[in-house]
Amino acid sequence: MITLRQEEEKDYEKVFQIIEEAFITRDKSNHQEQFLIEKLRKSDIFIPELSIVADYVNDETGHQELVGHILFTKITIENGSDSFESLAIASVSVKPEYQKQGIGGHLIAFGHVIAEEMGYQSVILIGHENYYKKFGYKKAGDLGINFPIDIPDENGMAVELTKDALKNIKGTVKYPKEFEID
Ligand SMILES: CC(C)(COP(=O)(O)OP(=O)(O)OC[C@H]1O[C@@H](n2cnc3c(N)ncnc32)[C@H](O)[C@@H]1OP(=O)(O)O)[C@@H](O)C(=O)NCCC(=O)NCCS
Repeated sequence: MITLRQEEEKDYEKVFQIIEEAFITRDKSNHQEQFLIEKLRKSDIFIPELSIVADYVNDETGHQELVGHILFTKITIENGSDSFESLAIASVSVKPEYQKQGIGGHLIAFGHVIAEEMGYQSVILIGHENYYKKFGYKKAGDLGINFPIDIPDENGMAVELTKDALKNIKGTVKYPKEFEID
């Protein structure tokens, strides 16, 4: 059984390990994501309610383990002097032996529900088009949202958590300084 809940301080060490392990075999990774998350937790773009972990419990053996993590942080979409608040998925990770069982999907969908309850209206990310499409993400470029870095069009994605949330918002995503690689 999988349960999802807000991350607590006691989880930080385990979350660090999960992120490190999840990204280790990814070629499109700088393998520094676990440090990014540590930096983001200390920043003012951190939203504690949107740092979510997945706990696995084996009903038969009682074995319990933290197996996944997702973090959404604040970003803005800038257009001239206008600035619109949005969210980014900073990272989503599932412990390799627990992947392909829907846990990543649950973390994303649960995060969307909490984000909407908190009044956030959209999420922007750079990721694999086939994976995120399942959760309502569309090409951000088609919605008039651009990225400050050169990425393949199909990898810049956005989801509207409320109907037409991005209809009148056009501009370029601004990533806070925490996302800059040292
Ligand atoms: C991405 C990740 C969180 C998905 O977790 P998961 O629990 O395996 O996800 P789900 O079980 O909900 O979905 C699995 C599906 O997504 C696909 N998928 C997983 N990662 C993918 C990726 N990077 N690109 C494309 N598809 C991917 C799987 O092939 C699988 O497809 P299928 O259902 O058609 O077989 C997990 O693979 C992971 O931790 N990857 C390493 C870290 C990472 O790349 N994070 C995303 C960038 S922030």
